[in-house]
Amino acid sequence: MAGETLDQLVMTRRVLVAVGAGGVGKTTTAAALGVAAASRGKRVLCLTIDPARRLAEALGLERMSSEEQTIDPSLFVAAGVTLKGSLTAMMLDTKRTFDELVVKYSSSPARARKLMDNKLYQYVSTSLAGTQEYMAMEKLVAVQRDPRFDLVILDTPPTANALDFLDAPARLVEAVDSPTMRWFVQAFESTGKVGFNLLARSAAVVLRGLGRITGGGFLAAMAEFITELNDLFGGFKERAQMVESSLRSPEVSFVLVTSPAPMSLEEVIFFSERLARANMPRGAFVVNRFRLPPLSADRQPTVADAASAIASHGLHLEDDAPIRVVQAHAAAVRLAARDAALVGTLRARASDSVPIVRVAELASDVHDLKNLGEIAETLMHGGV
Ligand SMILES: Nc1ncnc2c1ncn2[C@@H]1O[C@H](COP(=O)(O)OP(=O)(O)O)[C@@H](O)[C@H]1O
Ligand SMILES: [Mg+2]
Repeated sequence: MAGETLDQLVMTRRVLVAVGAGGVGKTTTAAALGVAAASRGKRVLCLTIDPARRLAEALGLERMSSEEQTIDPSLFVAAGVTLKGSLTAMMLDTKRTFDELVVKYSSSPARARKLMDNKLYQYVSTSLAGTQEYMAMEKLVAVQRDPRFDLVILDTPPTANALDFLDAPARLVEAVDSPTMRWFVQAFESTGKVGFNLLARSAAVVLRGLGRITGGGFLAAMAEFITELNDLFGGFKERAQMVESSLRSPEVSFVLVTSPAPMSLEEVIFFSERLARANMPRGAFVVNRFRLPPLSADRQPTVADAASAIASHGLHLEDDAPIRVVQAHAAAVRLAARDAALVGTLRARASDSVPIVRVAELASDVHDLKNLGEIAETLMHGGV
């Protein structure tokens, strides 16, 4: 059973999430999907995390900022890309998202301040493992219903392991809502002065989870922090579950990005299975930076062929140029065959209902809107 095309996905879904191993092209794919949808009339919000400088430049943004920035329509015109809708980009800012949550859900501004002034808040809101991933999802939930946009595209953090993204809520909950922590808070609250040894022991457990935080009043700060946080979110666990279940909506689709390299391929297959088990909808596999065979792949040129081609172009190159052309051709054929074999592996192991879309490796990295528009159209037309 063939699935929907990416073209159908951008036209019918409310949220697309680009996932995959680090460096495979998630941010680029998210931006290209944004360009494609905007050019087809959608009002798109692209939430990005670590845009390469050149991508920000490609979109005419001096630097991506955590404010919404709508891409200047004249840039689309200049790049020859139709724009029937609009494209707004915004960089995810973990700390700021956390702050916004605190302000929104606190029972009073004073309580919000109290939590944000807590020493541990700074740490948890920026550095605790999983916070970035978790806040990406919180932000998604926050903008999912924003009537100003038809489609929200979420880029995901540059985690070493793509699975971290889905595990983030659970891990964060574990860190701040573990039985140890709750017991610790209760012990502290009920007596106000628990025996020092007991506190030291539980603090050691907590510290192992939270990293090293030193300074006076740590334990009191910790107890207060956990209490405030639980009050705020009405139990962090329920909230994380809600965020996770919103990803199961039929309005959402995951785009699994990979490079044609065995490791990122394994990771994306693993991730895909994980999504399937969690009933989270998979839209497509994008095999990015796929190397196509040279046009003359079926006929290996000889050194004489290369020499006469060079001469016929009136080029004056070094003596070993013809042999290097022949070697480069052979290497290109070999790499293309390897990439094709890897896509074959993906096809054999992935679900038939999830289409595989190949995007060619460009000659240089993605540095202008024209490049991005080309990738966008490739994605819309089922790949190369
Ligand atoms: N198809 C492609 N051809 C050439 N360069 C690409 C392609 N896709 C991505 N890149 C480049 O690869 C780098 C990493 O891409 P990026 O989208 O930032 O990856 P990720 O977000 O997965 O870490 C960027 O410099 C980008 O311009
Ligand atoms: Mg990225």
